[in-house]
Amino acid sequence: MKKVFLLITALVLLAFVGSASADVVIAFSQIGQESDWRTANTDDLRKAIENHPGWKLVYDDAQQKQENQIKALRNFITQDVNYILFTGVVSTGWDEVLKEVNEAGIPLLLIDRLPDCADRIDYVAAFGGDFVEEGRRQIAWAGEYLKSIGKGDKDVNVVIMEGTTGATAQTGRTEGNLKALKEYPHLKLVGQQSGNFTRAEGQAVMESWLKSIPKIDVLIAQNDDMALGAIDAIKAAGKVPGKDIIIVGCDSVKAAFDAIVAGDMNCTVECTPLYAAFVVPTIEALERGVKFDKSVIHPEEGVFDMNGGIDLGTVKSVKAADVIATRQY
Ligand code: AHR
Repeated sequence: MKKVFLLITALVLLAFVGSASADVVIAFSQIGQESDWRTANTDDLRKAIENHPGWKLVYDDAQQKQENQIKALRNFITQDVNYILFTGVVSTGWDEVLKEVNEAGIPLLLIDRLPDCADRIDYVAAFGGDFVEEGRRQIAWAGEYLKSIGKGDKDVNVVIMEGTTGATAQTGRTEGNLKALKEYPHLKLVGQQSGNFTRAEGQAVMESWLKSIPKIDVLIAQNDDMALGAIDAIKAAGKVPGKDIIIVGCDSVKAAFDAIVAGDMNCTVECTPLYAAFVVPTIEALERGVKFDKSVIHPEEGVFDMNGGIDLGTVKSVKAADVIATRQY
């Protein structure tokens, strides 16, 4: 009798411990794998969530398709996950499915590319790049750099290679690029086209520009992958990237640092993919019952170039070679 009693007590205790330590399930709807930035973003969040005691990751790669993301979000609702991490491939068209997430009562964390309906839905936290400021910094860097080498009053031809059309990262950076161009009347816009945030499309767009635009002095690429693809095209056309054409990228991935140190690229404006440092403490706090105000947090970001010291108002550029060893992505 005593043995039976002990067995029942042990089973009850086991059941209790089992239910008390049930996993916190965090679902992540990722856009795809278009760039080094995206890979770093996926790896950072994946590692942090999978290595966190008591947390489980449900990951979905939408392969750049909005319909895949909508399907993934509905699957997460069906699975009744505990949290949803979301970044949208484009900025529009999310109202309905994100309202469904709200109605299911699943806390939503927005990261990276925020949807345009952010004000109309509920979210518990939002961490995203300040894309308009990044775009402004790209143009301001080119304008201030040209002044620093005594060419501030010479007309120069500028091309803007845009990211995926309709992505918040594209619309924001284009807005910042175009607004800043007004501050630098000697920078003349002679080309503006999407390279879809990929290296291959960046190369193809640059190849066609080099054939159709007689003189290109400055390339503003809305991410580093497209800048790196363009560098291949510039070299293949017999020109010297970084000298014949000044190249300003965005993201600050390791390959861009290498290109700057090698003299092939001039500048990269930082857009950090490392969101785990924000997401993990936020979910830990939410688990403890802490509530957050509905607000958007932009990480602090830098600008890196060949020599450093270019003053962009909100930030001064840093010499890439001086910090390359400390970079995490
Ligand atoms: O949303 C962030 C942007 O998406 C990065 O700049 C780009 O490289 C990525 O594909």
